[in-house]
Amino acid sequence: MKKFILYFLSLWAVAVLAVLSIAGFRGSMTTRRPFEIFSDMDHMPKLRPQTTTKFSQFADGQSSRPSVLGTVARGSAYEDTPYATGKKADGAFVEALPVKVTSELLKRGQDRFTIYCQPCHSAVGDGKGITTKFGMANVANLHDERIIKLPDGDIFNTISQGKNLMGSYADKLEVSDRWAVISYVRSLQLSRLGKKDEIPDAVRATLK
Ligand code: HEC
Repeated sequence: MKKFILYFLSLWAVAVLAVLSIAGFRGSMTTRRPFEIFSDMDHMPKLRPQTTTKFSQFADGQSSRPSVLGTVARGSAYEDTPYATGKKADGAFVEALPVKVTSELLKRGQDRFTIYCQPCHSAVGDGKGITTKFGMANVANLHDERIIKLPDGDIFNTISQGKNLMGSYADKLEVSDRWAVISYVRSLQLSRLGKKDEIPDAVRATLK
């Protein structure tokens, strides 16, 4: 009988310990790491965004590529200014370039125009680019009186949003480049509108 009580008590103690250790601490926190026998795939080399890491497959050691052009950070407001939209607060297009026209701006504009606009609008902007030979229809002649008279903000809007058959170039031309292209389009238009006496004497002498 004594032996039986001893067995019973020790079994009881084991049972109490088991229940306590399995159920007793559920939900309680510990700062100590859990004891891992098999860690499975809990710990792996991995990439955290926008950091450098030895694990990177890129030459610069970055874990990811820089944000895409025009990315707006989460939580930051989209810049609703005439410069970024081509529109004034009342919704009307801005009349003239909101940036200073410099020779750098024109050169940049020419560079971007040659890449992104020339295929359809041609190098001189008359709308007879190479793609028109392959079925691209209704390409606008940028020397049309109507287009000459468009506010700069309207052309900014066409580049940003596209128009009919012309797609948007917002993902290829950042805002500053769009204004640069517009300055170049204006210079193309001027090249046909210019008067003889606006040509410097030295250059005029060489003309036939
Ligand atoms: C894939 C061919 C193509 C490319 C590339 C292209 N355009 Fe156009 N663009 C067109 C077509 C087609 C139209 C006529 C759209 C319409 O039906 O009104 C047009 C119209 C325009 C107009 C007149 C818009 C209006 O209000 O009537 C402007 C200005 C213009 N393009 C500027 C540009 C500039 C600047 C670029 C380079 C960033 C460019 N285009 C690139 C095909 C193109």
